Amino acid sequence: MKYLITGATGDVGARVTRQLLERGIRPRVLTRSEEKARALFGDSVDVCAGDLGDPASTRTVIQGADVIFLVNIGPEIPRRDETAAKIAKEEGVRRIVKLSSLDVEEGLAIGAWHEKGERAIRDAGVPFTFVRPTGFMSNLLAWAHSIKTEGVVRSSTGDGRRAFIHSEDIASVSVAALLTDEYVGRALPITGPESLTWTEVAEIISNAIGRSLRYELLSDEEARARYAKISGSAEETEAHVALWRAIREGRLGAVTDCVERVLGRKPIALEQWVAENLSSFLG
Ligand SMILES: NC(=O)c1ccc[n+]([C@@H]2O[C@H](COP(=O)([O-])OP(=O)(O)OC[C@H]3O[C@@H](n4cnc5c(N)ncnc54)[C@H](OP(=O)(O)O)[C@@H]3O)[C@@H](O)[C@H]2O)c1
Repeated sequence: MKYLITGATGDVGARVTRQLLERGIRPRVLTRSEEKARALFGDSVDVCAGDLGDPASTRTVIQGADVIFLVNIGPEIPRRDETAAKIAKEEGVRRIVKLSSLDVEEGLAIGAWHEKGERAIRDAGVPFTFVRPTGFMSNLLAWAHSIKTEGVVRSSTGDGRRAFIHSEDIASVSVAALLTDEYVGRALPITGPESLTWTEVAEIISNAIGRSLRYELLSDEEARARYAKISGSAEETEAHVALWRAIREGRLGAVTDCVERVLGRKPIALEQWVAENLSSFLG
């Protein structure tokens, strides 16, 4: 079996790649920057320089692959998933494991992009598994600066809850889906162990760093203005504002037992993630 890992230099894809290497599997990895991939994996993987936004290079990298871990980001997700799936079908790929989103179930914001991507993959007729995680614990690194400089956590999510998930759990479930056909034709809705408000998350970080933190509620307008400064596009900004609003409205707080069903153990708790990332919140 030849495994193609896209997003291999990213948070989840790098962990998927490492887990395959630990099993003695040498994957092919797609990156726009060969240098970045070499810095992470040295010569232990086959590096393919390419771009999922470019159909010709997508075909080159897919040719000869049996199983694909597909990561697309941003508003281009539907088109890029469709292109990859059509090429995969033509090239005889045996299955695609797509990193999707639990928010597909609500059909909003970034989840709506993934919903269209999933549909394109189903329509292409390649056997698939959709790994649908909730919000990543690693998103909380975006708080590091205001925690360090002001002792403040800000958001427009109010008392809404999210069952944040560790990227290692997402990778482990993805690897399970890559290695066998047990999960073909299924969506795997995965979450962390408990659904927490932003105030509760701030308390966990506060306990770990030994410093009190204050939660500050932002209006949608304030959240929009702040995110616009780092966003790639207006569409991406609106998707995030809608996502945070849906969390505030209590629509995205579900907890599932899917990680435990697939991996035979509980999902990793936020306390462990905070301990692993403590230095980011200190100083
Ligand atoms: N963050 C969340 O809370 C959350 C929740 C649910 C679902 N998700 C989904 O998870 C995915 C992001 O995963 P992640 O956080 O692991 O990724 P990430 O750390 O943001 O890394 C993005 C990866 O995508 C690759 N990439 C970007 N543009 C590319 C292109 N044009 N062609 C080829 N590769 C490209 C990058 O590779 P190079 O730079 O090396 O080319 C990099 O490896 C998204 O689909 C997102 O919607 C996220």
